[in-house]
Amino acid sequence: MRKTFRPRRSVLYVPASNAKALAKIASLDTDAVIFDLEDAVAPDAKDEAREALRDYFRANPASKAERIIRINALAGEWGAEDLLAARACKPDAILLPKVETPQDIVSVTEILEETDASENIRLWAMIETPRGILNADEIAELGLRSTGRLDCFVVGTNDIAKETGTGLSEGRSYLIPWLMQIILCAKAGRLDVIDGVYNNFADTAGFATECTQGSKMGFDGKTLIHPSQIDAANRAFQPDEAMLAEAESIVAAFALPENAGKGAIALNGKMVERLHLANAEKTLAKVQIKGDKA
Ligand code: COA
Ligand code: MG
Repeated sequence: MRKTFRPRRSVLYVPASNAKALAKIASLDTDAVIFDLEDAVAPDAKDEAREALRDYFRANPASKAERIIRINALAGEWGAEDLLAARACKPDAILLPKVETPQDIVSVTEILEETDASENIRLWAMIETPRGILNADEIAELGLRSTGRLDCFVVGTNDIAKETGTGLSEGRSYLIPWLMQIILCAKAGRLDVIDGVYNNFADTAGFATECTQGSKMGFDGKTLIHPSQIDAANRAFQPDEAMLAEAESIVAAFALPENAGKGAIALNGKMVERLHLANAEKTLAKVQIKGDKA
């Protein structure tokens, strides 16, 4: 089980077939990069994309951003070769598309174990089909296994819209019940959960609004398609000044000798419990780690 916190505010998709985009990564302040072999790569460019990925990881063995490789479905034509290539690159994680059952994760875990893949290679799961949403609870439970590799859910809103006929309407009102369900399941399995992409990258105001919405819903970050989206996502998914000030005051209040043995205290007219202290410490740790990373 992953113990240490890593910021995943901004998670940028980069098509592995796009040499210009690959070259740009080192200059970007994104928390994580998803190197895509799946939908962003055309069917006749799959082999070439895999090769480009191998070359990229050989030339760039380390990175300040977390690195995830999205492979094609194992059951399909390209998945097995993608998995071999991804494993050899030693990324931080491999992202599996259209995960629908716990077995989809277990099968890949077994292949990684049988081939002695580094334990540091984690698994992320796309939840993007009706069946995947319905089974998100059971899938997320794998996150509680001490020997498991599952760390994170990524929501595929474009696929959910396609599969269900639910449009990506203003405010995502019809999608929200399913998104909240996925978030709840992820948290029950102690997984991070990353929001879907915002397709209209020229619409910066709409994107910022959707980031704020995702953050309030409980997402840990947002998947992105364009570098211009990174700064807004980083801002929306990190604690703001008011949250930091509140967290600091809660930590300071519980540190007072007179509050040492208390479970609940009054602070500025509000009840504060030790569970709030745990959250406050987590909020401060986020900023601390972000500072260390910079
Ligand atoms: N990652 C890294 N760099 C990217 C990028 C990305 N996802 N998208 C664009 N860039 C780079 C471009 O290469 C260009 O670089 P330059 O400054 O060296 O010229 C710069 O950012 C500006 O790009 P721009 O010209 O505005 O966009 P584009 O026409 O090159 O690309 C898309 C537009 C949508 C095709 C491209 O952003 C993209 O492929 N995004 C990811 C799609 C994806 O992965 N989808 C699957 C998951 S939903
Ligand atoms: Mg998809």
